Amino acid sequence: MRIGNYQISYPLFLAPMDDITDHPFRLICKEWGADVLISEFISAEAIVRYVPQSFRKMSFDKEERPIGIQIYGSSIDSMTKSAQIVQEHAPDFIDINAGCWVKKIVSKGEGAGLLKDLIKLEKIIVSIRNSVSIPVSIKTRLGWDSNNITIFNVVKIAQENGIDFITVHLRTREDGLKGKADWSWISKIKEECKIPLIVNGDIKTPEDAKECFRLGADGVMIGRGAIGNPLIFHRCKKYVEEGVTIPPPDLIERVKWCLKHFELHIQYYGEEKGIVLFRKFYNWYFCGYPYISKIRKLLISRRYANEVKEILYLIIESPEKIQEIPHESVETPQ
Ligand SMILES: Cc1cc2nc3c(=O)[nH]c(=O)nc-3n(C[C@H](O)[C@H](O)[C@H](O)COP(=O)(O)O)c2cc1C
Repeated sequence: MRIGNYQISYPLFLAPMDDITDHPFRLICKEWGADVLISEFISAEAIVRYVPQSFRKMSFDKEERPIGIQIYGSSIDSMTKSAQIVQEHAPDFIDINAGCWVKKIVSKGEGAGLLKDLIKLEKIIVSIRNSVSIPVSIKTRLGWDSNNITIFNVVKIAQENGIDFITVHLRTREDGLKGKADWSWISKIKEECKIPLIVNGDIKTPEDAKECFRLGADGVMIGRGAIGNPLIFHRCKKYVEEGVTIPPPDLIERVKWCLKHFELHIQYYGEEKGIVLFRKFYNWYFCGYPYISKIRKLLISRRYANEVKEILYLIIESPEKIQEIPHESVETPQ
C-alpha cells in the first residue's frame, strides 16, 4: 500500500485514540513496529479558531512519519479550512473522522453523526479533496446501527471523490465499543472497495492480524491492543510476513517500556502534568500482574518523576520487593 512517498507491505496502523495516542505514545509504538501513526482527533472548530491545544496535538517529529492528522467536525467550511491549516504542518495525510460514537460529538452531527447525513459527508469530502494536495483518508464505522448500515454508501462516496484509503471500525455507532467487532464484513466490503481498506476492531494478537489480512484487508489498525503493549506491532509484523511467532512480553519487558514511555511523557508534558497524565497507563502496563493494585497505588501516590522511576526500577530488579514496601508509604494523591 502506498501513502504519499511511502510504500508499505502489510501496513500496521496505530489507531487514533483521544488522550492516548499523543507524541510519546506514538514514538513508543513506532519504535516497536507500527508502520503508520495517526494523531488523536482534533476539532476542526478549534483549529480554525487557532486554539493552542489543537496545534500541540498536531505537532509531530520526523521519525513519526508516515503520520496522519485526524480532524472532526460537521461544518463543511471549518472542516475544509482546518484541513488547509493541517496541510501547512505537512503530515503525510489528513484523516476525516466519521466514526466517533461519543454522544457529545454525534449530537452535533460530528464523527459518526455524519453517517446520518451522507450528503453532507460527501460535501465535506469533496471540499477537502479540492482544497489540499496531500492524501486524504476517512475513518468510519459499519453504520449508525444494524438497521442502518452505510458502509457501502460511504465506500462509494469515498472512492468516487478521491479519498486515498478508508478505515472501517467493524462496529456500528450504536455498538460503541461493546460486543465484538464483526470481521465477517471484511470480505463483503473488500468486494466493493477499490481503494485500500484498513480494518479495525479487536485486533489484539498476531493471529488476529493475519486473519484480517486473509479476509481481504489491505491494512490493519490496532488501538487498545497496543496500550501497554507496543510490541504487538513487531509480533504481528513477524507473524504476518514471515510466519515467525514471537512470544508475548513478560512483566520485566513491559515495565521497561513503561519506564521509557514515562520518561518520554515527562519530557513532553513536564514533570507535574506528565506524572498525572501518565497514571491511566499503569493498569495497561501491569495488566495480569498479581501485585497490580499495590503497584498502582504506589505509583499514583508519587509526586516526583524520580520516585516513580525508583519504583519501576525496583520492579525490574526484584519485583517481589514491592510486597515489602509498607502501606504507610502509600500517600493519597492530591
Ligand atoms: C480511549 C479511546 C479514544 C479514542 N479516540 C479516538 C479518536 O480520537 N479518533 C478515532 O477515530 N477513534 C478513536 N477511538 C476509536 C479507536 O480508534 C478504535 O477505532 C477502537 O478503539 C477500536 O479498535 P481497537 O479494538 O483496536 O481498540 C478511541 C478509542 C478509545 C478506546
